[in-house]
Amino acid sequence: MNILPNTTHQRIFNFWYFFGSLALLVLVIQIVSGIFLTMHYKPDGALAFASVEYIMRDVPYGWLIRYIHSTGATAFFVVVYLHMFRGLMYGSFKKPRELVWLFGMFIYLALMAEAFMGYLLPWGQMSYWGAQVIISLFGALPIIGDPLTLWIRGDYVISDATLNRFFALHVIALPIVLLGLVVAHIIALHEVGSNNPEGIEIKKNKDANGIPLDGIPFHPYYSVKDIVGVIVFLMFFAAVLFFAPEGGGYLLEYANFTPADPLKTPEHIAPVWYFTPFYAILRAVPDKLLGVIAMGAAIVVLFLLPWLDNCKVKSIRYRSGMFKLLLAAFVISFVALGWLGMQPATPGKTLAAQIFSIIYFGFFVALYITSKNEKTKPVPERITK
Ligand code: HEM
Repeated sequence: MNILPNTTHQRIFNFWYFFGSLALLVLVIQIVSGIFLTMHYKPDGALAFASVEYIMRDVPYGWLIRYIHSTGATAFFVVVYLHMFRGLMYGSFKKPRELVWLFGMFIYLALMAEAFMGYLLPWGQMSYWGAQVIISLFGALPIIGDPLTLWIRGDYVISDATLNRFFALHVIALPIVLLGLVVAHIIALHEVGSNNPEGIEIKKNKDANGIPLDGIPFHPYYSVKDIVGVIVFLMFFAAVLFFAPEGGGYLLEYANFTPADPLKTPEHIAPVWYFTPFYAILRAVPDKLLGVIAMGAAIVVLFLLPWLDNCKVKSIRYRSGMFKLLLAAFVISFVALGWLGMQPATPGKTLAAQIFSIIYFGFFVALYITSKNEKTKPVPERITK
């Protein structure tokens, strides 16, 4: 067997290339644990909360299955955010991988919908009021706003009808969509091949048999590397699962241990951490409709990345200091918005959210302006030479 020198290894796949296969693993974990939860869960406004308590206390290993599923939701977003960030660093969304990126973005949308609907199911206070806040946002749309919210809820308030349809969407419709999109994502990737930390198109240098000179076999290289990733990931996953499944109230919010009460609004309503950057952008804009538009735009702009970043060089390794600076500002704004979105709004925090929202959108504008004539370093022709 040919052992790759360590330097070459780092140029083909590194830490950042773990997360695609880990996302697949988490998808399987969520589907399997979800099937077992469905065996005991009751999608009924009068029974749902108690059925989750029953799973936690009486069903053998029910607590384990539930915590696997709730921790899995967080793990999914951690893995997917790191996976997307890798794309940003190495320009993986650029030609010829635009379609891979677009399918990825649709996966991200479906994942957000999946997590949002799943969160209603335990029928706790935060499930109820979180859904109330988010669904009522659609009411800000002109003309169609009110009929649309009524149509989504199936009632004038969040009710049993809403719970039933969210259950149907969460356990069957959206998982099918997700699985289909993941298949499309991987087929699209297979067509063009993976990018690498050097940003070199390995299909440009082929041998007489048409095999890329810098290509390496999936087995043992990727298979062994991915197993290392899986083991380390499972160690982190088990640590959270067994020692901090509530994550200090950030993974399972404390208000959700109280049954849903349509007559009592919790003092502080905040979505789970993976939605909070967008929630902070929504709250940063004083006008409700404009806030909804800004929040939508914050997601839509990610779809447009392949056409906003016009630098010919893919990898951050050969890009300008300006690009590195912009990317750092983007990451800081995203994390800061995520934190602000969890906090109760005060005038100071709202101002901070406004500043970081401007930096968030500013990243895309500055990237578009600066990437065309960016000063880049020469990119090597080959990986293994
Ligand atoms: C369920 C969620 C997802 C799964 C299972 C998944 C799976 C994968 C796999 C197995 C790979 C190849 C291995 C690797 O490069 O790590 C990959 C590559 C890629 N994915 Fe995903 N993915 C998911 C979500 C996303 C999202 C949300 C995006 C971006 C919006 C995305 C963008 C990409 C890109 C651009 C590549 C090519 C990267 C490169 O070659 O450098 N993926 N994905």
